[in-house]
Amino acid sequence: MSASKTIMVTGGAGFIGSALVRYLFQFTPHSIVNIDKLTYAGSKASLKDIASPRHIFVQIDVCDSEKLQQLFHQYQPKGVIHLAAETHVDRSIKNAFPFVQANIVGTYTLLEAARNYWQKLEAHERAFFRFHQVSTDEVYGPLGDEGEEFTETSRYHPSSPYSASKAAADHLVHAWYATYQLPVIITHSSNNYGPYQYPEKLIPFTIACALQENPIPLYGTGNNVRDWIYVEDHVRALWKVFQSGTIGETYHIGSRSEQTNYQVVKKICTALDTLKPRKNGESYQNLITFVTDRPGHDWRYALDTTKITQTLGWQPQETFESGLCKTVEWYLQNTKWLGIAL
Ligand SMILES: NC(=O)c1ccc[n+]([C@@H]2O[C@H](COP(=O)([O-])OP(=O)(O)OC[C@H]3O[C@@H](n4cnc5c(N)ncnc54)[C@H](O)[C@@H]3O)[C@@H](O)[C@H]2O)c1
Repeated sequence: MSASKTIMVTGGAGFIGSALVRYLFQFTPHSIVNIDKLTYAGSKASLKDIASPRHIFVQIDVCDSEKLQQLFHQYQPKGVIHLAAETHVDRSIKNAFPFVQANIVGTYTLLEAARNYWQKLEAHERAFFRFHQVSTDEVYGPLGDEGEEFTETSRYHPSSPYSASKAAADHLVHAWYATYQLPVIITHSSNNYGPYQYPEKLIPFTIACALQENPIPLYGTGNNVRDWIYVEDHVRALWKVFQSGTIGETYHIGSRSEQTNYQVVKKICTALDTLKPRKNGESYQNLITFVTDRPGHDWRYALDTTKITQTLGWQPQETFESGLCKTVEWYLQNTKWLGIAL
């Protein structure tokens, strides 16, 4: 890809999107048009270090077709990396409508705006264009206990309204490739963790509960398994796939770091015991409390990442232990992000 063109990122004020924008800003020469509605989950605080004409932030909804068309016309992006979405499974169980709207209607609207723009590009520009859909391992549904991993050809079987809405969006993306030849790529990543994650998600939520001496709730037995990836490893992989992935293909992004939720929470408690010991001398583990399981709670996810490692040469740089250590340290230095003052 030639340099100095603009990349459009949606959801760039969210957890992963902002990490991607910070990465593009630091390690590439590209300008970034960052489209975000700034829902409860979006925050410009995660972008505070990149005040520059190379970063153009536009607060809009990806369901707003007219504004999207204007932005494509005005900034002539080389491609789109689409992360904007409603993302919290528990919220999707309480009210699925915002998920259907943002994740399905939003993706449809963005696909149409991208297609209108792409079809009018000169032939050499069209060849470079990419629509990159950022998806999740949750579209595949649950796995059994051990060994088995999802591959890029596994069947979709989503369990939650969130994962069903992401699955629907992926199907739309694939249909725009098959029907209109829009150059698309889809990536599925496992559970992300790292700085600037909205505090309702497991890792920052656990840290916030612990630091406030509140019970640390764990769903069910705590033995559900997730495959964890440090957010900066994910965004490096996104950029690798965006630049070098094959059009029409799907890539898995994961670290092969399977952990039960109980293990994750215990490891956070152990890190905090060292970095910020409790006044009463007890371990934070004594705050762990088992609560009624989430309905439709998938047992286990695991991704086969052979394709991205072998064809694109991407490897994660962090182990779960090294990434978690960085993460806990970051939240301890940024307790304001967790909404608590120590
Ligand atoms: N967090 C994970 O572990 C994980 C794993 C795999 C895939 N993903 C996918 O990665 C993407 C980003 O996830 P995240 O964890 O950063 O989410 P997030 O909830 O932290 O951020 C989502 C961002 O999208 C914005 N947004 C929501 N609806 C919008 C709309 N209608 N128009 C414009 N902007 C809108 C929000 O304001 C927010 O800034 C999502 O598509 C998610 O499905 C996340």
